[in-house]
Amino acid sequence: MRNRRAALAAIASAASLALALTACGQNSEGGSEEKKGSADGGTIGIAMPTKSSERWISDGANVVKELKAKGYETKLAYGEDDPDQQVSQIENMITQGVDALIVAAIDNKSLDNVLQQAKDADIPVISYDRLILGSSNVDYYASFDNEKVGELQGTYIVDKLGLGDGKKGPFSIELFAGSNDDNNTKYFFQGAMNVLKPYVDKGELVVRSKQTALNQVTTLRWDGGTAQKRMDDLLTSSYRSARVDAVLSPYDGISIGILSALKSDGYGTAAKPMPVVTGQDAEVASVKSIITGEQTQTVYKDLRKLAEVASNMVDAVLNDKKPETNDTKSYDNGAKVVPAFLLQPVSVDKANYKEVLVDGGYYTENDLK
Ligand code: GAL
Repeated sequence: MRNRRAALAAIASAASLALALTACGQNSEGGSEEKKGSADGGTIGIAMPTKSSERWISDGANVVKELKAKGYETKLAYGEDDPDQQVSQIENMITQGVDALIVAAIDNKSLDNVLQQAKDADIPVISYDRLILGSSNVDYYASFDNEKVGELQGTYIVDKLGLGDGKKGPFSIELFAGSNDDNNTKYFFQGAMNVLKPYVDKGELVVRSKQTALNQVTTLRWDGGTAQKRMDDLLTSSYRSARVDAVLSPYDGISIGILSALKSDGYGTAAKPMPVVTGQDAEVASVKSIITGEQTQTVYKDLRKLAEVASNMVDAVLNDKKPETNDTKSYDNGAKVVPAFLLQPVSVDKANYKEVLVDGGYYTENDLK
């Protein structure tokens, strides 16, 4: 079975390589021929966490596009942030006989049993963006340098407040982290705190709420409403007689919630300017918010490249080749060190969004109007 799969995949892969070569210089024909070549390589199940965030909708579409171009069929499912739903979606894919799985987990610890079923059916698993924990049945991991994401956010805050240039503040800051069931959360937070903590220790950055431990600042399921409520509470409890100068936010959806709370409290005027607010994912709403001067920064991760990396991994594994990895040490999931390919994130603000996002072809000027 597996050999047949691999043989079919090899034929499809050779065909798509030939097509790719033909496509150089005559792209419109190459595009339509590629479609004809599809469906020979097998079927790949893609489990995405939620449609409530624009980025995962792009991820699903990008992965499907990449795999189709390589000659695969796809089954794409969104778990709507419900771990049980995601487990049953993956179970269905296994029952339907998919040849490989690409999974962006909702709850990184809830997939042990279902991944054992995948293993028993000889189905390789690629962990997509978020590392699946506790299971040895994870073959490869495609993601970004997640600690670097946090470092970019922390560094942005330090630079924007002028701390690196000799300003001593003290400036007040509040800290937000992602969902506690997402393995990325601790990497983002650690990366940011690597940069911020020395200033907190010197008293140049002050967390007035005193909520500095990761378990005090997480945001279940990355939910913007939950973040808004916490920011409301922080403003009421700790900022009646002081102003907040910076908010570490790990993700654009959380930043939007934080900004709503700040606006309700009168921030965003000359007398009470918006604090520095970071983010991640360069979602359209947040890039627009950056352009209008509300959110200050985001971290751009080119999801087109992530889809390409994950699809290349699947293609290699199904053809009995070793996927390209660039990190075979950092991502220990508790059961094994999962070989990873990590892409580089980029800090984006009002000064460079055009160059990075528009000139880079990620968005058009019109998307951002
Ligand atoms: C993380 C991901 C971030 C962000 C967040 C919320 O796992 O790495 O880029 O999208 O989920 O969706």
